[in-house]
Amino acid sequence: MHQDIAKILLTEEMIQAKVKELAAQISDKYRGTGRPLHAIVILKGATFFAADLLRRLDIPARVDFMAISSYGTRSSSSGVVRILKDLDHPIEGQDVLVIEDIVDSGRTLNYLLQGLKQRNPASLSLCVLLDKPDRRVVDVHPEFVGFEIPDEFVVGYGLDYAELYRNLPYIGVLKPELYKD
Ligand code: IMP
Ligand code: MG
Repeated sequence: MHQDIAKILLTEEMIQAKVKELAAQISDKYRGTGRPLHAIVILKGATFFAADLLRRLDIPARVDFMAISSYGTRSSSSGVVRILKDLDHPIEGQDVLVIEDIVDSGRTLNYLLQGLKQRNPASLSLCVLLDKPDRRVVDVHPEFVGFEIPDEFVVGYGLDYAELYRNLPYIGVLKPELYKD
């Protein structure tokens, strides 16, 4: 285990088993729509999750990316989101699935989803690997959730602290003395 990690919350095996389950649920939902699923991966945190998830779908899919940044700190994220990289393709009339690493207060995803809705997709759903329901301040209800986790700061499998730890294959709790909000 990495020296900065206090404990492992989700092992590689637990994550991969869940990814397989989610991929089956998502494939079932979109199979037979007559058009490819339009997946939107939110950079950078969701890329590891999305790469595993999308490879397990057994339906046609397109993949596009969006990079956003929230103003403010984690405990007081303003919910105002700046788009650093917009989508390459329009989503009007598409069945859109937004893939994100984690929903916390919900402010970032709420803002993002409102914006995407205005582009008139045929449908708009959300898949998150992690959900911290205790910290929610804005109503966001992901249709597909990997794991509900307690209010602890986690890193690994795409999730970072100061851009570190994304490449850990598991999800762990960062040692509290290393973490400043
Ligand atoms: P929200 O607007 O409060 O829902 O913020 C969500 C964003 O905060 C996520 O996209 C992550 O970038 C970040 N975040 C929230 N909790 C954690 C965590 O435990 N580890 C790493 N990043 C987190
Ligand atoms: Mg993020």
